[in-house]
This record gives sequence, structure tokens and C-alpha cells, in this order.
Amino acid sequence: ALISLRQLLDHAAEQGYGLPAFNVNNMEQMLAIMKAADATNSPVIMQASRGARNYANDIVLGHLIKAAIELYPHIPVCMHQDHGNSPQTCLSALTNGFSSVMMDGSLMADGKTPADFDYNAGVTKQVVDMAHMVGASVEGEIGHLGSLETGKGEAEDGHGFDGEMSMDMLVTDADEAAEFVKATNVDALAVAIGTSHGAYKFSREPDGDILAMDALKKIHAKLPDTHLVMHGSSSVPQELQEIVNEFGGEIAPTWGVPVEEIEVGIKHGVRKVNIDTDLRLAMTGAIRKLLWSKREEFDPRKYLAPGIEAMSAVCKDRFERFGSAGQA
Ligand code: G3H
Ligand code: 13P
Ligand code: NA
Ligand code: ZN
Repeated sequence: ALISLRQLLDHAAEQGYGLPAFNVNNMEQMLAIMKAADATNSPVIMQASRGARNYANDIVLGHLIKAAIELYPHIPVCMHQDHGNSPQTCLSALTNGFSSVMMDGSLMADGKTPADFDYNAGVTKQVVDMAHMVGASVEGEIGHLGSLETGKGEAEDGHGFDGEMSMDMLVTDADEAAEFVKATNVDALAVAIGTSHGAYKFSREPDGDILAMDALKKIHAKLPDTHLVMHGSSSVPQELQEIVNEFGGEIAPTWGVPVEEIEVGIKHGVRKVNIDTDLRLAMTGAIRKLLWSKREEFDPRKYLAPGIEAMSAVCKDRFERFGSAGQA
């Protein structure tokens, strides 16, 4: 059944687990996520970015989600707009059947300048008023994603502000988070603790000191009833990079967020954990491997099927390690 983010995260908080939120753009990714959810009996958050909606078309995406729900009626599914950048984008998601939206007001309407508190709180509140009227949920974001290693806003996939940032911009302040939640009444709050989007998060193996976990603990202590969200939470496993590179890929050495750090986050109020990059790596590695080893093959099903399997294995692992397995 289609369910709101609020309903899913309330249950996760009561039971003390976290939910991965997986990005979806096409049928193969939807099938991979749902097979893993079925195998582990886990609830599902599927999220579509603006890019996904452009790529797949809203009508196709809408039917894809309906298909997922019809195929697995016993699995609760939340369909979430990832990084909506305006109230208009969030509204069109709601009218296309999404049960949850993220209003990412971290950039001004120009899409470049870091937003101030009042702009962000204003647009987010507007979306909350709208979404709650139709029983949908809203995720807001306070703070700016970026690397504490380099002191820069995130760069390579162009989501955030690409430039120098002070540490107090890169790490969400607990008092400001509390003020934001009070001003907006969001259902879930994304916080900045040193993660960034994409494969190139850290240039060395994280040693347990690379994320601002103390800041996260402070936010949770101040807002014990707010569901926290971690973006940029792919682990970028070395073994997935190696498969891509072994079969003709060229991924430069890089490290992501260790699953152990996410598990610590879940103990301190993190309920939604956004993962896209790991799924891309898994699917691409399997497709590369098949095409590389069976050069006579040209039936898309022959390489997409192993792509689905490899992606599904990552989904299963995260459902299990975040504790959502068995909770559907
Ligand atoms: O927010 C980041 C997700 O990985 C979605 O990426 O905007 O390329 O679809 P995308
Ligand atoms: P990754 O790039 O780490 O997978 O993050 C995805 C994300 O935050 C989507 O909103
Ligand atoms: Na999101
Ligand atoms: Zn994100």
C-alpha cells in the first residue's frame, strides 16, 4: 500500500530502526528495490529526483509505483520527491501521486546562492501547509551538505553550493534546527554533518572522525521527536568500485560513509538514510561485467537482469543493517 513518510518514520522511531531511501529512475531499479524489500520483509521508501522525473516522465513513474504496490501488496511503500527545489515542484509531485516531498530550501531560487534561514523556512512552511492538507509528508533541510575534509560545499553533481563554506555552514546547529522545526512543522529534517552527494566524498578511508556525529547527537537531544535524515549516505564500497574498474570503468580512488557510522546515526534519531550512488555502482558493475565477458551478447535483458540482482543485493544489505528488515 502507498503510505506517507510520516507513518513509516513514526514506526521506525517507535521500534528504533532506520529506513534506507533508495533513488528510482526506471523499471529495473524499482524491481531491484521491491525484490529486496520482499525478501527481507521491509517497508520501502522510493524517491525520485527532479532528474528522475525528467528522465522517466511523471506518467511512467506514477504507474511504476502503482505497479510496485500491486506486485507486493503486503509491503508499505512511500513515494518521495527527492530534493524538490521549489513549492511548484513539490506540488506537481503531490498531484502525480507522491505521498511525500522534500522541500530542499538550502539554495535561493537562483539555484546557486546558499539560502538564508527565512527563505528556507518560508518556502518549507508553504509546502508543509499544502502537503498536510492532502495527507502527504514533508522533509525539510537545514544546513548545507559538504565535506568537512575539504571545507567545501558539494561539487561534482551540482546539487549544492560549490565553493568554500565555513564549518558552521557545513554542520547543522542544534538551536537553528529546533527553530526551523518549530517554524515549519516538517515531518522529517535533513541535517548536514559532513556528508555530500556522489561517489567522491572522502579522499581517504574514514577513521570515525570524518563526520560530525557530536553535532548529530546534539540535534537529537534537542529534538528527540524529530525524524532526522542523512543525505549523501552511500558507502561507496571498495569492492563495487573494483568490479566497475575491472571491466573497463575508471572510478578514481574514493571513500564513502561507512555503514557503521550510519548505524551510530540510527541510534541518535536518524530514520531516513538516502542512498543512490551505491545502487548506481552495483548496477553498472554488473552490466559492465556481463558486456565485457560476453561480447557477443546484445539482448538488453541479458545484462539488465544481473544489474537488477547486483543492485538488489545492496538494497537487501542496507535493509538488514539499518534494522528495517522484518518491519513491513
Ligand atoms: O540527490 C541526489 C540523488 O543521487 C539524485 O541524483 O539528481 O542525478 O537524479 P540525480
Ligand atoms: P549518495 O550520492 O551518497 O548515494 O546520496 C544520495 C542522496 O542523498 C539522494 O538524496
Ligand atoms: Na530526500
Ligand atoms: Zn540528497
